[in-house]
Amino acid sequence: MDIQQSLTDNLTPANKNLEVLKAHFGHCFDKQGNFQMEKFQAELESSELNFSRESYGLDWLGRSYSRLLASDAATTLLREDEAFNQKPENTNSQNLLLKGDNLEILKHLSHAYHEKVKMIYIDPPYNTGGDGFVYQDDRKFTVKELQRLAGVTEEKAKRILEFTMSKSNSHSAWLTFMYPRLYIAKQLLKDDGVIFVSIDDNEVAQLRLLMDEVFGEENFVAEFVWEKIHSVKNDAKYVSDNHEYVLCWSKNKSEVVINLMSRTAKMDSAYTNIDDDPRGPWASGDLVANEERKEGSFEVNSPITGKVFNVPSGKHWVVSKANLLEMIRDNRVYFGRDGNAFPRKKRFLSEVQQGLKPSTLLGCKDFGHNQEAKRELKALIGGELIAKHTPKPIRLISHLIRLGSGENDLIMDFFAGTGTTGDSILRLNCASNANRSYILVQLPEVVFDQDKISSYVELKNELGIEEPTIFEITKERLIRAANKLREERPVEVAGKDLGFKVFETIPLWEDYHHKAETLEEDTPPPFRGDLLGVDDLQALFITWKTHDGSPLTETAVDYDLGGYMGKYVNERLYLMEKNFTTDHLVTLLQKVDADADFNPRAVIVFESNFQSKNLRELSESLKNFQNQKSLEIDFIMRF
Ligand SMILES: C[S@@+](CC[C@H](N)C(=O)[O-])C[C@H]1O[C@@H](n2cnc3c(N)ncnc32)[C@H](O)[C@@H]1O
Repeated sequence: MDIQQSLTDNLTPANKNLEVLKAHFGHCFDKQGNFQMEKFQAELESSELNFSRESYGLDWLGRSYSRLLASDAATTLLREDEAFNQKPENTNSQNLLLKGDNLEILKHLSHAYHEKVKMIYIDPPYNTGGDGFVYQDDRKFTVKELQRLAGVTEEKAKRILEFTMSKSNSHSAWLTFMYPRLYIAKQLLKDDGVIFVSIDDNEVAQLRLLMDEVFGEENFVAEFVWEKIHSVKNDAKYVSDNHEYVLCWSKNKSEVVINLMSRTAKMDSAYTNIDDDPRGPWASGDLVANEERKEGSFEVNSPITGKVFNVPSGKHWVVSKANLLEMIRDNRVYFGRDGNAFPRKKRFLSEVQQGLKPSTLLGCKDFGHNQEAKRELKALIGGELIAKHTPKPIRLISHLIRLGSGENDLIMDFFAGTGTTGDSILRLNCASNANRSYILVQLPEVVFDQDKISSYVELKNELGIEEPTIFEITKERLIRAANKLREERPVEVAGKDLGFKVFETIPLWEDYHHKAETLEEDTPPPFRGDLLGVDDLQALFITWKTHDGSPLTETAVDYDLGGYMGKYVNERLYLMEKNFTTDHLVTLLQKVDADADFNPRAVIVFESNFQSKNLRELSESLKNFQNQKSLEIDFIMRF
């Protein structure tokens, strides 16, 4: 099938909801593709679905605008840091560090990573007033466009634009920032996935309602309270604020499993095996409870000495007589070393629950505090960071990762900051037989108060970067965390993935549009795709391939078509470069015939680098070839 696609200026995020609706309710769309809500509602009502009449929900200025942001096309391309990714420790890595605005990156990843991520942890700006959060947005909608796209009145469109341009830090601004990110993030989560979000008093109330809105109230799992500071601050104005929150929602509560916490050696040490029971160590437990009960009073004999026991007055046996006799027969009751002590039940370690239920209280004794996190960062990078990027302690993040993911899962953090999530994953992997991988996203935000941060000065000198951003700190921490593990745990790191790959967003070329349809006097000339350099073509390719569903860690094979290099990945062949000739076409078809590992289901060409005669020839030859071989190969001419 021949397809013409103008994709690059239309890189919209995946929206499977629409696909589901079209698949199941195709008859509720009219000829123009408009959805007929009344028809849909009538049909659902006839299947006895109740519609809620309650008009309760979260509303804010910018709500319709933030919906638009969630579905609007990306305005960037993805570029690979080839030199870094080709280092031996990184070539086969499944870990990713992505540089750029996370909304853009989430949009790029939404196709290839749809339902691939088991757990998301994020620590977004808290909007404390002092953390520098301001709403920033370089999308330049006109009032008219916004009216049409967001379906709002002229007056509202004006107010929204005013507020998106005013660098606001209101609750509305924060919600407008968070909504589209959470909305797309949800689509990346597996059906049994979970998301944890750190937050404090400033936005916790707004965030809870927002999470209800995006993930559904029924998918709420827990609100954890983490003790971030270990001592009470006596200089606090009213009350010392020692905690913050971690909110947890599941994608689908009926599928989710929150793992138990592992038992500690201390807990297990309470179990011994003084009578050499073949079932292993045990601890003794009470067989009586308070309060007199008629049926709970009866006599039993010690099987060793025959001594008779009944419950003391005011108490009752906690099991029936038949059960107690059975337990005695099975050597599950202990009468002391001499067989004359009051009976107690044996609780075998092998039979107790293998783990402990996690609690919503995360005390700093077990899960670390802000100072601990700073120390951890300092040990790797040196110096202190500013409030805006306050790191989290590894013990806290590791705990959340253990609760929310299995040992081979993919974990994402799209407000990576100093990279604690990546560091924690590496350590967890080395501490057990785990192979979790990560996707971290971080904005190359300029670090302010630079002189105060010795890490910054150190980095500047060490890396030779004139103005390192927080992204360089993230990257450097991940490198150093891996090196530290290599040094300290040479045995455990064997075979572990300690590397990562780096990609970044770059702005899409201005005026990138296919053909100037209306050639008026002052219309700029059409974009010259054929003038793009090697690096630009590579960025275009990475962006397309990711949009087509190939993960970033999946590298394409350079496929030689007799001197013309195509790129082959996931049964898709990309022909990006110029000078494709009939000879290359002949080789291409021969190779499809002869090479068992080469089975393109789609041939995608960058139209600007092809002459129309080549395109026609390619299209026709592919059609003939498919007919002869009963194959299906889509031919996609893309811009
Ligand atoms: C509170 S910090 C995260 C700290 C992190 N949990 C740690 O342990 O280091 C939030 C980070 O999100 C980054 N950030 C803010 N807006 C972003 C955006 N739109 N895209 C990507 N990163 C962003 C900030 O630069 C900041 O470093």
